[in-house]
Amino acid sequence: GEKAVGHSTGKLILVGEHSVVYHQPAIALSFPLVEVKAIVEKAPDGISLDSSYYVGPLNNVPEKLQGIVACIEETLKHLNQPATGLRIKLDSTIPLGRGLGSSAAIAIALVKSLFNYFLRQVSKQELMDLVHLAETYAHGNPSGIDMEAAISDQPLWFEKDKGTKPLELGGAFHLVVADTGRIGDTHAAVASIKAKFKSQPQVTQTSINRLGEITLKAGQALSSGDSELLGESLNSAQMELDSLGVSDQGINQLVETARKLGALGAKLTGGGRGGCVLALAKNGADAALLANGLKDAGAHQTWFFTLEKN
Ligand code: MEV
Repeated sequence: GEKAVGHSTGKLILVGEHSVVYHQPAIALSFPLVEVKAIVEKAPDGISLDSSYYVGPLNNVPEKLQGIVACIEETLKHLNQPATGLRIKLDSTIPLGRGLGSSAAIAIALVKSLFNYFLRQVSKQELMDLVHLAETYAHGNPSGIDMEAAISDQPLWFEKDKGTKPLELGGAFHLVVADTGRIGDTHAAVASIKAKFKSQPQVTQTSINRLGEITLKAGQALSSGDSELLGESLNSAQMELDSLGVSDQGINQLVETARKLGALGAKLTGGGRGGCVLALAKNGADAALLANGLKDAGAHQTWFFTLEKN
């Protein structure tokens, strides 16, 4: 073809980030209010990238975006195509490094656009393998949850190396997401917990186990439609994540603000240390108020939506 497109949404982790790396369950969902589109076009020679993060030849891409390079090169290799003659444009509304799954989403969109361009169907396994490669650059040892969540049309129960199962919702949940405006380093946050495991194995293991129990409770809350219980679960998870050292002052401030404004619960979402906060509101009207209040309290951007059976 002359031109092809690939698309992905972002993702949200409701509960279980970090502990999921240690084989505890996590709950995640696609976040369609942010998305990325990759557009592949024929070019005279070489491969060039045109994105809000970087514009220029692929072989000059900055270190932070090496996952994108690996993903493009490996996908072309997989498709038996030479690494030349392409212009790749990335159009994204997913802020980078905010725990919304930007790196997985970019990789998903890239892989899909390249398969489309060469008129090939991509299987889920091929997509997973190629995205995993890009994610390894971004996260070190990714659990795979970001990509699973982004491609699912239902909330997911996820366990590393065990796969996923869709979660049935027993009611509607009113969620608010607030961006601290600061880039979090998921790679560093994951590494810091690994280091904590060495220096303080017992307390760290206890926190990880607690997060697993909290995720179980959150799953029950979702399937029974119990917003109060889900809110409590989010609050307990935030306490554990804070004690694991992946929260920070800016996150804690937004979490406190959300609770003061009547949120049933609030926590960081994704890697932490910057990134986004997730809050659960009592109803749709409260969610809108909460989103505004969090913006007044310094959040760069906020989103709100209702999670319900589709
Ligand atoms: C990142 O969205 C979630 C983490 O648990 C890392 C991972 O699972 O790869 C922090």
